[in-house]
Amino acid sequence: MEIIITSDYEDMSRVSAEYIAREIKNKHDLVLGLATGDTPIGTYKHLINLHNEEGLDFSKVKSFNLDEYVGLAPLHVNSYNYFMRENFFKHVNINQENVFVPQGHIDDPEQFSFWYESQIQKAGGIDLQVLGIGRDGHIGFNEPGSSFASRTRVKALYKQTIEDNARFFNHIDEVPRFAVTMGIGTILESRKILLIANGRSKADVVAQFIEGPVTSQVTASALQLHCYATVILDEDAASKLTRKEYYNWVRDNKHMVQKRVGR
Ligand code: PGA
Repeated sequence: MEIIITSDYEDMSRVSAEYIAREIKNKHDLVLGLATGDTPIGTYKHLINLHNEEGLDFSKVKSFNLDEYVGLAPLHVNSYNYFMRENFFKHVNINQENVFVPQGHIDDPEQFSFWYESQIQKAGGIDLQVLGIGRDGHIGFNEPGSSFASRTRVKALYKQTIEDNARFFNHIDEVPRFAVTMGIGTILESRKILLIANGRSKADVVAQFIEGPVTSQVTASALQLHCYATVILDEDAASKLTRKEYYNWVRDNKHMVQKRVGR
């Protein structure tokens, strides 16, 4: 894993957007996995700026979102379909036909999950998957105990996730109890992974998934098994890492080590 510690949220957002932009410039038809939540909003803003000011071209990019609440229609203000449209898709030149966000408002989420996996396969697999992390260590909505082999499916949300996400709803009872989410197995098949995290509330779980044991109790720790995972943090989220000095040295001397060390 490559760990990049940036100064603050703004810096984390800029560095992660530049990373994604480089990948798009290298492969115009990049298959990009996308995440929702507060964390990536700044990254999306920077990508929109790169589109408006430097012509970053999304016309051939295909996107697959990680997850969606079961029971919320795509136009519901708390749905991730709505979130993506408002915070990103409507501001760039991505082709609507190339946009895939799981549907939660359907009769048969299980059948949908199979279809979603098949669309990822049809697109040639995900080139770069962007992730946030929940305070319980989840990536997507892969709550503690999710199998590392899991595929897109319906998952029951953990109590802490429901409490954390209640801030977006009028009342905690309105937070859906289930979500459709890509599985850990799905995520690990992405060619590259970029996880971003900011804020002191993420410091404990960031230290656990990077420096702790690989365990399905902290599903983000599965990234330790991936050969091309990058983590971009702000100072607060990185504050409980014990090997910060080493990560910073590698970041600052990357030109020397790039060809010599693995991740
Ligand atoms: P957040 O959520 O970006 O709103 O903190 C992250 C997540 O739950 O994956």
